[in-house]
Amino acid sequence: MADDIIAVKPAIAAKARIDAARREAMVAAEAKDAEAFWRGEMTRIAWMKEPTKIKSVDFHGDISIRWFEDGILNASVSCLDRHLATRGDQVAIIWEGDDPNSDAKVTYRELHARVCKLANAMRRLGVKKGDRVCIYLPMIVEAAVAMLACARVGAIHSIVFGGFSPDSLASRIQDSECTLLITADEGRRGGRKVPLKANADEALLTCPSVRHVIVAKNTGGAVEMMKGRDHWWDTITAGEGETCEPEKMNAEDPLFILYTSGSTGKPKGVLHTTGGYLVWASFTHENVFDYRDGEVYWCTADVGWVTGHTYIVYGPLANGATTLMFEGVPSWPDNGRFWQVCAKHKVNIFYTAPTAIRALMRDGEGPVKKHDRSSLRILGSVGEPINPEAWLWYYRVVGEERCPIVDTWWQTETGGILISPLPGAVALKPGSATLPLPGVKPALVDNEGNILEGATEGNLVMLDAWPGMMRTIYGDHARFGQTYFSTFKGMYFTGDGARRDEDGYYWITGRVDDVINVAGHRMGTAEVESALVAHPAVAEAAVVGMPHELKGQGIYCYVTLKTGVEPTEVLRKELVAWVRKEIGPIATPDAIQWAPGLPKTRSGKIMRRILRKIAANETEGLGDTSTLADPGVVQELIDNKVG
Ligand code: WT7
Repeated sequence: MADDIIAVKPAIAAKARIDAARREAMVAAEAKDAEAFWRGEMTRIAWMKEPTKIKSVDFHGDISIRWFEDGILNASVSCLDRHLATRGDQVAIIWEGDDPNSDAKVTYRELHARVCKLANAMRRLGVKKGDRVCIYLPMIVEAAVAMLACARVGAIHSIVFGGFSPDSLASRIQDSECTLLITADEGRRGGRKVPLKANADEALLTCPSVRHVIVAKNTGGAVEMMKGRDHWWDTITAGEGETCEPEKMNAEDPLFILYTSGSTGKPKGVLHTTGGYLVWASFTHENVFDYRDGEVYWCTADVGWVTGHTYIVYGPLANGATTLMFEGVPSWPDNGRFWQVCAKHKVNIFYTAPTAIRALMRDGEGPVKKHDRSSLRILGSVGEPINPEAWLWYYRVVGEERCPIVDTWWQTETGGILISPLPGAVALKPGSATLPLPGVKPALVDNEGNILEGATEGNLVMLDAWPGMMRTIYGDHARFGQTYFSTFKGMYFTGDGARRDEDGYYWITGRVDDVINVAGHRMGTAEVESALVAHPAVAEAAVVGMPHELKGQGIYCYVTLKTGVEPTEVLRKELVAWVRKEIGPIATPDAIQWAPGLPKTRSGKIMRRILRKIAANETEGLGDTSTLADPGVVQELIDNKVG
């Protein structure tokens, strides 16, 4: 069933921006003369001075990636000002609250005014081009306003997901030395409140760089305001004008930093710049979703993740779209919420994550069919491999076999989608992200870095740059080269494994490094380990991913306690709560196994391969354990496997 092919629908192809012939022509044009191709595409955004230099890329040595490098622009102008004459009264953002009775619509003209007012207030607080501003907000319109206001004044935003703990927030603020924090009193999710300002207050105890805090009033919940430091959003923007001179930015000036987890060390600040990122956001949003003027487009992600950056805010707004922003969760007040919102706002394009699809599948077709989905035209998936069962359910039940599914593979680092069907051009296979977009050059390599041809499986790399790729790790360019370009010389290594079939289709198999993907959220196993060993009862910990029916992967922890500490149920619960508090609820361990010993090589290296197999119940082929210092610990762990 997984190898079913679903042909392009003639009705979609006939009207699509890109049909099969057009796609071929684009791929050929880009291959023949990449500079000419991107010179043509760059005009999709507004430039104050058009670039003459298009591409300058070196994947060797110090690694340097520059696109449109002598161009001058401001991202907020592309997303706002240039739409005012043609679509000032069109809705830019439809906001749908956690509470099904609350929603709001913001036109391009209103959004422009709100962004300018905040940008003026930020300038008055002393925020200048190049300063870092941390945004810790729930899914309210203010989040988009804050991003665009940063872009307006040339400040680099760093959004921290509202589900992260005070400690996680603090370490991100410290790493990029943010001078301003924009937050809200509280967030709302699934009928519960999230104490954002209280978390921020705790984080700021260790963040001396932050001089000002702007607080949006959202729930009206009581918060403490520190005199001189904290300002209410409404008060500080009240007297400001509704126009604001946009800062002139070079195409390669940074637009934002977004922290993401890797296989080692603390989260790294992925840095994206202005021109190439915005061209890529616009190009991919328009073509992958076949977006047409007047359509309502909904991406269910949170702006705290890259999906929200590129496909709730920058891509759609650059394209003059109507983008829906949802504060809530798919399961509240009931499991029909997504479809109720689709019916209410007549959503045409819907983009969500496999974990949500799998969770909703459990309730059957009832909650879906209760709501009218006839407005839906295109469905999208992102964040993790989508299993064929979930794909087919999404296709048959949600989309009534009418809507193509675009399974979009990409990463925080890539800025936007790289591998995905184009709905009018590429036949679908359930579970496959299909083919690279024009301008994207993937390859599969073996562990020695040899490029593999034809139908095969290997490590997924990119042989050349595309405009939207990350430029560096904030403050640590050496780590950038080390992380992405040293495993396979001269190639960008994604950290993913993939299979390529006879038709050249890519099937992403998942991470091949020590990164796990829990419900579409990326987590470094090393981060969870360091949270565990920070607990006074823990001597050592090893964390691996385990298969999880809903979340894709769950967090499996092997914990060695300090001598004399009793492994009790109370302690187990305490450790689970501890990790949640240290990192945030998204890092909640799914299983903790007491491990009197861990399998180590004679040189002391933990053999994670073995731990992964035990957690996955794959103890048949454990492979070579002869290099272990104490082979006996393996049997002990198998015998006491949790769950
Ligand atoms: C990792 C990137 C892409 C934005 C959201 C996540 C996995 C992402 C797919 C997909 C299979 C996918 C990969 C990738 N992933 N999309 N369509 N099929 N796997 O961004 O947090 O940077 O995570 O998510 O493993 O490396 P991220």
